Amino acid sequence: MCGIIGYTGNKNVTSVILKGLKNLEYRGYDSAGIAVLDNKKIFISKFKGRISDLENSLKKIKIKSQIGLGHTRWATHGEPSKKNAHPHTDCFGKIALVHNGIIENHDKLRKELKEKGCKFKSETDTEVIAHLISKFYKKSLRKALIKTLKKLKGSYALAIINTDNPEKLLTARCDSPLIIGKGKNENFIASDAPAILEHTKKVIYLKDYQVAEISKNKVEVFNFKNKKIPYKVNTLAYDKESAEKKGYKHYMLKEIYEQPKILSTLFAQYLTPSGRTKFTNLNLKRDFLKNIKKITIVACGTAYHAGLVGKYIIESLTDIPVEVDLSSEFRYRNPIIKKKSLFIAISQSGETADTLAAIRKIKQHNVKILSICNVLGSSLTRESNSIIYTHAGPEIGVASTKAYTAQLMVLYLLTLHLATLKNILDKTKLKKIISSLKKIPHLQKQILRNDKKIKNIAKRHLHFGAFLYLGRNINFPTALEGALKLKEISYIPAEGYAAGEMKHGPIALIDEYRAVVCIANNSLIYEKMVSNIREILARRGKIVVIATKGNKNIKKYVKEIIYIPKIENLFSPLLVTVTLQLFAYYIAQIKGYDVDKPRNLAKSVTVE
Ligand code: AGP
Repeated sequence: MCGIIGYTGNKNVTSVILKGLKNLEYRGYDSAGIAVLDNKKIFISKFKGRISDLENSLKKIKIKSQIGLGHTRWATHGEPSKKNAHPHTDCFGKIALVHNGIIENHDKLRKELKEKGCKFKSETDTEVIAHLISKFYKKSLRKALIKTLKKLKGSYALAIINTDNPEKLLTARCDSPLIIGKGKNENFIASDAPAILEHTKKVIYLKDYQVAEISKNKVEVFNFKNKKIPYKVNTLAYDKESAEKKGYKHYMLKEIYEQPKILSTLFAQYLTPSGRTKFTNLNLKRDFLKNIKKITIVACGTAYHAGLVGKYIIESLTDIPVEVDLSSEFRYRNPIIKKKSLFIAISQSGETADTLAAIRKIKQHNVKILSICNVLGSSLTRESNSIIYTHAGPEIGVASTKAYTAQLMVLYLLTLHLATLKNILDKTKLKKIISSLKKIPHLQKQILRNDKKIKNIAKRHLHFGAFLYLGRNINFPTALEGALKLKEISYIPAEGYAAGEMKHGPIALIDEYRAVVCIANNSLIYEKMVSNIREILARRGKIVVIATKGNKNIKKYVKEIIYIPKIENLFSPLLVTVTLQLFAYYIAQIKGYDVDKPRNLAKSVTVE
């Protein structure tokens, strides 16, 4: 997620901005830039790379400015490069701006602006905004900005400077975080509190569809009718470290709560407004995609579980057989690699040694590799033919949460793309599936609002010495993932198992000292799960059931029930997983473990 900072005051603007950008580094970025107003001229320095490169470039130049903007870019449109780094300007160099968010209708706007003679310098969606403001700008920059914003579709947090108003910053937001910091004879704009905490704790939370005009001793907020509106000044109650967690106790909890928004971002990224899938940079020929005979997925850990769910998704919506393999196994076995195969590597970090080794092995067979990855410019993305980014933002917690459900959503959308290309899905079915997927963020929020109940159930079960997680069909991998979450942050032995395998061994484990988590949401195999539950109860096993809201039947058997909202079974992993993430989180948190940095684990396993 990009980071933004703006400043106007009496301090040297470059040091305030560089420091602020460093405090936003945790958000992850691939390039950084700064724009300052120096004697009514805009000076810009920007780099693909680290903030330190930017800092070194500024050391050589003497700037005595007190107003400017800074940006760390987490690329979405246009690869990481100097020309795509922010700030971006209009054709005349009178307006410079930085942006966090995605402008969904930028293609159309860019085309219209080009027809009017605008010369674009970058591939970004952001640059469109600078040219639009310039096009509408007569006497009032604020009015030009409001006119521009009314034409944008998508999300934005903006900070703008302009040579005609050398003492003023302009800012606006819609669906992207942005705060205004109020200081003594100085004011700030930032995407996040850590960027300005050392200067002030007084902040104004700009609302969607509001713009603000900021000088060093005045802040004025306006609505889209250009009418001045009152605002509240709040006081931040936390320090820098907790600010980066936005007040959550751990990054993991913050990232669990980010999932609904991230899935909504993926719809904006990979669906057209009319509900068709759009993978603009897939870089794989339609003909190839239409005639894929087999898909092989390679991954590790949580990403491997996403691949297993992907098998159920792809095989239920297309005619393509899917094989899923652990990267560490694949790289040492002798795989039979057929023509017209697509290999999908799933990896949050894009740096996992085994997955990199697996695709290097596959490449010897001259087959296509698509990577589903969360880190732009990572090794995996550089070595794949095709990339689909999960846009989950940097995942700081070692236990993967938001990246996992983002991987699942990408797999759903990719499957719809393949099914449409192969004419397997008609428009009505496609529409129905997309409308179910679009409900998920709202349904996840219902689960998140229920987290107190999940916490209480977690409290009642944290003393158990071992856990078994049971699931069937598409929730068998969900059981594996739920068990991994628990074991890696609470260190309690937890095993995920196909419930149908109970009698083939695991039932020997059942007694009153073992807790069993059963995933029994509404599905064709619900009754089978009830049989498993009765077998466990007969052996005094302690059960926590994940069931579908409204299911009264399950109360005949168990008391410890966590309900998930109604959803077709095919999409249920996106809801059950959030429940199991919270369950594992609270057990580890109450036990007092270091949830974000569990013992012995690294966020990315870059060695074998
Ligand atoms: C997941 O919670 C673990 N941190 C781990 O299993 C992880 O999923 C695995 O190492 C794969 O990492 P990657 O997605 O970055 O390739």
